[in-house]
Order: sequence, then C-alpha cells, then structure tokens
Amino acid sequence: MNAKCYAVSDFEHQHQGALSFEQYQAMYKESVENPDAFWAEHGKRIDWIKPFTKVKNTSFNKDDLHIKWFEDGTLNVSANCIDRHLAEHADQTAIIWEGDSPDQQQHVSYQQLHDEVCKLANGLKKLGVQKGDRVIIYMPMVPQAAYAMLACARIGAVHSVVFAGFSPHAIADRIIDCQASVVITADVNRRGGKALPLKHNVDEALARDDVTTIKHCVVFNNDDKQLDLPSSQVWWHELTKDCAPVCAPEEMNAEDPLFILYTSGSTGKPKGLVHTSGGYLVWASMTHQKIFNYSPGEIYWCAADVGWITGHTYIVYGPLANRATTVMFEGVPTYPDERRIGQIIDKHQVSILYTAPTAIRALMAKGELAAQDSTRDSLRVLGTVGEPINPEAWQWYYEKVGKTKCQIIDTWWQTETGGAMITPLAGTTPLKPGSATLPFFSVQPALVDSDGKELAGEAEGNLVLKGSWPGQARSIYGNHQRFIETYFSAYENVYFTGDGCKRDADGFYWITGRVDDVLNVSGHRLGTAEIESSLVAHEMIAEAAVVGYPHDIKGQGIYVYVTPIAGTEVSEELTKSVRDWVRKDLSPIATPDMIQWAPGLPKTRSGKIMRRILRKVAANEYDQLGDTSTLADPSVVDNLIENRLNR
Ligand code: PRX
Repeated sequence: MNAKCYAVSDFEHQHQGALSFEQYQAMYKESVENPDAFWAEHGKRIDWIKPFTKVKNTSFNKDDLHIKWFEDGTLNVSANCIDRHLAEHADQTAIIWEGDSPDQQQHVSYQQLHDEVCKLANGLKKLGVQKGDRVIIYMPMVPQAAYAMLACARIGAVHSVVFAGFSPHAIADRIIDCQASVVITADVNRRGGKALPLKHNVDEALARDDVTTIKHCVVFNNDDKQLDLPSSQVWWHELTKDCAPVCAPEEMNAEDPLFILYTSGSTGKPKGLVHTSGGYLVWASMTHQKIFNYSPGEIYWCAADVGWITGHTYIVYGPLANRATTVMFEGVPTYPDERRIGQIIDKHQVSILYTAPTAIRALMAKGELAAQDSTRDSLRVLGTVGEPINPEAWQWYYEKVGKTKCQIIDTWWQTETGGAMITPLAGTTPLKPGSATLPFFSVQPALVDSDGKELAGEAEGNLVLKGSWPGQARSIYGNHQRFIETYFSAYENVYFTGDGCKRDADGFYWITGRVDDVLNVSGHRLGTAEIESSLVAHEMIAEAAVVGYPHDIKGQGIYVYVTPIAGTEVSEELTKSVRDWVRKDLSPIATPDMIQWAPGLPKTRSGKIMRRILRKVAANEYDQLGDTSTLADPSVVDNLIENRLNR
C-alpha cells in the first residue's frame, strides 16, 4: 500500500474548471454533514416538471428501511436527456455509433435522437404499453438500444435490459420475474465480423410454457436481409412507420421506477434491482460530470455494453443528461485486430475513454500492437471500472494508451449503487495505481470486521456504506424482503457492499474483491450458486461446486468441481458436454475454465461444502489449506489435490 502517489500536476493534461483538492474536501464535508442543503442545490442540475420541496428521507435501519430522494418532485428522464438540449443544440451529435465493421458509423444528433425516441414511444403506446409496464430490451450495441431505453422512460414504462450474451433461459427467467409485456430485440448481433442470430434466443424463451406475460415482440432489422416474422412479432420499422416524431413526456414522480436491472448475488437467482427516476438521474449526471470533469460537446467513449449498469449510467443516462457526445461501439476491441481501440479514439477524437481492466489486460497481452497506427493524442482522461485494476495494468494503461499524459480514473461501484462511489475526480484527486482513492459526495465508506465492529485508520475489512446517496437502488423487484436481508441485515444501519477493502494511512481505499460467493470474471458478475444450479441440471452430474481462481486476463477464472452420477464414465467428451451445457444454459461468459471431476467434495460433518479448501486447490495453493479437522472425510482432499488442474 506504499504505492507511488501521482499529484494532479504530474499529468500533462490539466483540467479546466476542475475542483481543487481543497474544494473537493470542503464539498465532501458539506455533502456528509448537510446532505439536505447539498442535494437541494445539486438536485437542480436536472429539469423538474414540479420542483421537489423535500430532499432526503432515508433510513438504513432494517426494521424501518426507507430510501426516498426528492420525493415530491416530478420529472421525465428522457426529456432531461434529450428535449432540454434541443433549443440550442438540436444539431449537436448525441450518439456516435461505431459499427463492428470499421467502415460503418453513424452520427445521431439530439434532434434525430428525439424523433427516433418519440416514434418508438408512440409505437409502444400503440401496442398498449402504459406507465409502469415492464419492457425487456435484448439488443445489440446499436443506437436503437438507447432509443428503446429512452422511449420506455418517455412513456413511464420500466425497462429491463438483458445483456445480449445471455441465454434463452436467462431471458425467460427475467420475463417471468418482472412479468414483462413486451420484448424489444433485433434479428442479429454483429461481433468480430460475424452476424450472430439474436432473436432466436427470444423465440426460445417465448416458447416456454411458463413464459405467459409477453403480448408483443418488436424486432429491429439489423441485418442486410429480412427474415419472415411470425404474426405475433412486429418489425420496429413497420411499427414506427406512421408514428409521429413527437410524444409528450409522461410526468413521473422522482421515486417512480425507471428500470430494473438483474444482477447476480451469492445465492439464488439473479436479483432485479429497481432504480428510480429522480435520484438516479441526479447521481448519473453529477458523477459523470465531476468524475471526468466533463464539458458538453466533448467526445466521450464508455466501452461497456448497455446490458450492464455501466452502460445504463455512463453510455446513456449520465452522458445524455449532460449533453455529451457519447460513443456506442458495436464490436469487440480485438476486431479486426488489437489496434481497433486506438483507431476509434483517433477517428472520433475521443477525449475520455472508460473501460474495464480485463480489456486493458487483454490488449496488454498482445504487446505493442495495440498502440500501433494511432496517436491517441485527443485523450484527456482514462477511466476504469468493474474489478480491481492491478498496478501493472494501471501502468500500461497510463504509459501505453495515455502516453503518460492522462489521469487514470479508477471508479469503484456496483449495479446497486447506480453510479460511481469511490473514485478520483479528474484534475482534482491525487492517484495511487490500484486504488479507487476517495469517496464521491455523500458516500461514507467504513470498514468493519466480521462482528460488525468498525475499524479505524489504516485497516482492512468488509466495506460498508453509512448513509444514503441519491442513486442507490430502492428495492429488489417483487422481493423487498430479500433487498433488506441482502444489503441491510449483515451489519446494523449500514449498506453492505459484499466487497473487501483496505484503507491506507492517507485514507485512500483499495478494493480487494468480493468477500461473498460472487465471482468477477472479466468484469462480469456471476453467482457461484447460479453456475452450480446449471451444472446439476446436467443429466450426468450429481453434485457441483464452483469457485474462482486468479486468472491473468479475466481477473478471476471459473473453476468447477463436479461429481458424476454413480456409474458414469468420465471422458473428455463428457467434460466438453458440461462446458457446452453451461455456456448454452447461462451464457458464454459463464463458461467454466477448468472442470475437475471429483468422486467427492470436501464437507463438514454437517454436510456443508468447505469452499475455502476448494478455492485453495483451484489457486494451486494446496499447501495452505488451513484447518481441515472438521472434514467428514479427509481423503477427499488428497484426491482433489492429486487431480488438480491449475498447476
Ligand atoms: O467487486 C466489485 C467490482 O464489481 C462489483 C460490482 O459488479 P457490478 O454490479 O456488475 O458492477 C460493475 C460495474 C460498476 C463490485 O462489488 N468492482 C467494480 N468496480 C471496481 C470493482 N472492484 C475494484 N475496483 C473497481 N473499480
């Protein structure tokens, strides 16, 4: 933790209008000591139809949990992201779309964005979609994904975007959980030079007997050709053909839901986190502007997917609320080859790049190629998110991508938090490679030990947050009790993040990773329980346990221990069939990296699987197993070690 510290003045790019560090400290103090006054002021950064008179009404006491911000204000999120910019900036580019193929691109102005969003909003109304209805969006990275989100927001429908890499099974589960009435999808998804069929996953989900709520399926034609659609489905262009490019924005209460986004937890099925309208938008827009010191009109590229919270907050809602020009990239960083990211930066003169450590490590592994054929001189700020960034990747990002001119903004946050929480502010905060640095306004991190005792000063413990912030999720859709139990019951009167964290002598925070059974694979969050339940659904598997292990590129890899049904002969084909099964059942991102067949799993005498041992064997640290005296059958461990795969 005695890492090098970079002062703001060490970076060539200075930041006009950035707060001084002393100003940040004073504002932070005010935001914690007097949140009502602080957010009464900053809540005005968005347009309200009826201004709020109440600011904060929150309690993290599990017996009286409530989280309300700006509760008597009304607004429309899409009007904030579009209409308010039209009077003076209708022709400014809102979205630069860069296709999978380097010769495809499109500039969408704020006026065009308005017209497309309104047409689809009217189309959805024609289909009977009303305020409060749930709409599933399963789309590739095309501007229509953003139009769909904003069209829902315009009419007060609640969207739930499902990442296009997820399986029919995952789509079906989400439709059932939120009782969606409409799905918006596309025929194909282009990635890495291939046009992959997309809609057929929706078809498979809709064919299931237990999927009963969907009344309409809208299909965007993203291919050169046009399939035949069944009569139950409608092409986007047909639906919107006669729709007016004007649609009055619905007046929404600040606490009306804007979207539901599913994310994995340590147990059970993914949770549908509910984000509401007013507080979320204030948080999205304020964090986006302050963290990157963003000025309207600058070209900004968040290379995430709209299927994740990063895409929601930092491709769509935050940037558009701030009148940004936001880049949407359809493809992958390595197609046609590793030079692509640099080429996109030069082509569109990107000032701010925001990506994930796994992408940085993947480029780093390719050597010098990534930095060839581009100057990247337009870059001012480099952001990272999704997992801890190891100091080597930080240095590479800083030296090779940013040519030592740009600050590295390492933002820690979660689907649940709505926006960035522990993060440097560009031009303001000194940096230490590998540290997410200091809290954003009103964020009050604390470290606790396993008994909930708060640790002072330099310490390591479980990261909790005291007090609320406007962007936080309000509930788990359809299961508020689970929300209370997951986040507010482990420790009293605080929000539990599920992450471990260190604080150094300067008060800087260093996230160490999840302390629960959640994996972070290439920045994607996966529950071990979800993967295990998929594995045991395979006909040859009796029992399964999944753990993470350190992986050079992905951060964590997926290590699977499986016990076959008695009498099953284990073979390479069987291993492959298990791998393919999970891939198809959940998603390619959940594909196991290592599959070890084990005649038995290490259990306590009461039958609980000892994951600690499984993690150590998977990490090839089998000489550090710790206390094994509670094992029911110690010989099981010898077998695991003997057949370990990560040597
Ligand atoms: O473990 C932390 C890790 O990602 C988790 C949240 O995942 P998700 O909800 O999918 O959101 C990812 C994008 C915001 C966290 O609990 N994480 C996220 N950002 C960082 C991080 N770990 C370390 N450093 C980060 N900057």
